[in-house]
Amino acid sequence: MKAAVITGYGSPDRLEVRDVPRPQPAKNEVRVQIHTSTVNRTDTATLRAHPFFMRAITGLFRPKMQSLGMDFAGVIDALGADVSSFQVGDRVFGMSSERFGAHAEFLCIPADEAIVHIPKGIPFEQAVAGEGAWYAHGTTKLLAEGQRCLIYGASGAIGTAAVQLAKANGAYVVAVVGTRHTSLAKALGADRVVNYEREDFTAIGETFDLVFDAVGKTSRGACRPLMKTDAIYCATDMGPYWSNMLLGIWFGLTGSKRVRIPFPEDAPEFIQYLADLMAHGKYRGVFDRTYPLEEITSAFQYVETEQKTGIVSVEILGQQGQTDSPHP
Ligand SMILES: NC(=O)c1ccc[n+]([C@@H]2O[C@H](COP(=O)([O-])OP(=O)(O)OC[C@H]3O[C@@H](n4cnc5c(N)ncnc54)[C@H](OP(=O)(O)O)[C@@H]3O)[C@@H](O)[C@H]2O)c1
Repeated sequence: MKAAVITGYGSPDRLEVRDVPRPQPAKNEVRVQIHTSTVNRTDTATLRAHPFFMRAITGLFRPKMQSLGMDFAGVIDALGADVSSFQVGDRVFGMSSERFGAHAEFLCIPADEAIVHIPKGIPFEQAVAGEGAWYAHGTTKLLAEGQRCLIYGASGAIGTAAVQLAKANGAYVVAVVGTRHTSLAKALGADRVVNYEREDFTAIGETFDLVFDAVGKTSRGACRPLMKTDAIYCATDMGPYWSNMLLGIWFGLTGSKRVRIPFPEDAPEFIQYLADLMAHGKYRGVFDRTYPLEEITSAFQYVETEQKTGIVSVEILGQQGQTDSPHP
């Protein structure tokens, strides 16, 4: 099979599309013939081994995995002997969040991990919406109905997901984006859209229960005027001088947990939740460019510009297998 193999940590030039042996499913695994994957900030950060301590998980001197790629959508083409929850031909999507490997024509994944049937009527290329939504969910799950949140950077993969997931929880949402993304933020359901290029988003005359920096471009200090007394500040990144990390540890020690860098968890449960939202028309991935597998280096380079809108996808299998399977 063809796969985008990583030859070591570094720039996107460390990726090579090669022929490698097709994986065989273990007893508890299914094999997916992948139609669509994505290149996301988890992939680019893992390739760069950034931050450095990620190497403790991904491999000290070189990456443990053959290929990157977390999101996948495709068709099951083989089953391990112990698998009864899926059948050959099922249309599925999910996240290979620990082993990666979706930048390839085939992927094996345990049937009880983050893999579910694609809701009826959703094409493969719209199903690969896991990564950003999973990260966003770590924050939006803290919101109860009627609470007020501000999402800074609501145009990236995490930000576009955060707006929708916060709305699905019944929260009031203010989305902060640049000029080119104001209509998108409104279309995603934000109650108010603030254009950070035209307006000081910290002086909008509202306060919030939760402020979420979804692109790592602001700080808790800057956002203080927006926060109610007991407000939570969440961020996707370490912050200036690792301040989010340090404040997170400090507040953690005092027991208040008012600054957090939420680590995504419970991937299997989350992917089922996302599928349910999609099935009920309450969630849609926002997609930017699509690259063929052969041009995956360009996809990584584009994602590293930090200018994408939502998700960048990778087409692996053309138009085959587009019809709905009998399993919803
Ligand atoms: N370490 C990891 O493994 C890991 C994994 C996933 C995510 N993350 C972090 O999570 C963050 C979000 O990831 P993502 O994939 O959602 O990001 P993304 O899609 O790359 O975000 C791009 C968006 O950010 C907006 N943006 C750029 N500069 C901005 C600014 N100064 N203020 C507000 N918006 C700005 C851009 O639109 P405009 O320029 O039009 O505003 C663009 O739409 C990243 O900071 C990343 O470091 C880390």
